[in-house]
Amino acid sequence: MSETRSKAPAGAAAEATAVQAAAGEPILTLEDVHVSYGNIRAVRGISMEVRRGEIVTLIGANGAGKTTTLRAISRLVPIAQGRITFRGQDLARFPAHEVVRLGICHVPEGRGVFANLTVRENLLLATYSRRGKGDIEQDLERVYSVFPRLAERRNQYAGTLSGGEQQMLAVGRALMTGGELMLLDEPSMGLAPILVEEIFRILVEINRQGTTLLLVEQNARMALQVAHRAYVLETGAITVSGPAKDLLDDPRVREAYLGA
Ligand SMILES: Nc1ncnc2c1ncn2[C@@H]1O[C@H](COP(=O)(O)OP(=O)(O)OP(=O)(O)O)[C@@H](O)[C@H]1O
Ligand SMILES: [Mg+2]
Repeated sequence: MSETRSKAPAGAAAEATAVQAAAGEPILTLEDVHVSYGNIRAVRGISMEVRRGEIVTLIGANGAGKTTTLRAISRLVPIAQGRITFRGQDLARFPAHEVVRLGICHVPEGRGVFANLTVRENLLLATYSRRGKGDIEQDLERVYSVFPRLAERRNQYAGTLSGGEQQMLAVGRALMTGGELMLLDEPSMGLAPILVEEIFRILVEINRQGTTLLLVEQNARMALQVAHRAYVLETGAITVSGPAKDLLDDPRVREAYLGA
């Protein structure tokens, strides 16, 4: 499946998909969303959208509310106010396990793979919530073609994988759910620069194969290079948004997030 894809660098790949993404309709919409943990107001009235086919990135410093935003979308934390809709359906009507069935897969912060299961078992477990559609063996082969390292290690316990390989397995698990929208929480965290580049290259490829991505990142430069559009989150509020390329040149973003 993947052998027909071009091996263009991430930035060029993002540019190539930008035109087709612009035509996509919104599949995820957040309207004035608030989330609190007791007295802590982690997310303070954010509105954003993700269109079909896009890579959208949400960047921000430690504690800005990025993880909380993804957890609110996946219904892992309740929202105090506002509305989140996926393909026109209000997500408040669905518990977290139903959200996966609707087509939203979440690659959590810190990976969350099962150390005592093999790579293959971890991937198969992720298909548990699927509605029996599609050929699971074929999807396994697709994951192995995107991640040759996982193919080589398919019978190895996940707990023995390197950090980067565990991150690949976490993304592979999300792919196995067959979801249309993938939420990624800092997939580059703790990885060596060369692996960071590999993860981003793979994300672009997954997007080209049809999965829409909402990517939370502290690595703002890499995220802005692969994304079509971006939002900057500061202490729970969106302060800057627009085409990712414009944000790379925005003095506010450069000074605070790009060290320039
Ligand atoms: N379970 C919780 N209970 C209380 N406060 C929490 C909880 N989870 C997060 N917070 C607080 O909410 C705010 C937003 O946290 P969140 O994890 O969403 O930030 P983040 O942008 O993902 O940060 P990081 O880049 O460090 O992962 C922080 O002030 C954090 O301390
Ligand atoms: Mg976080």
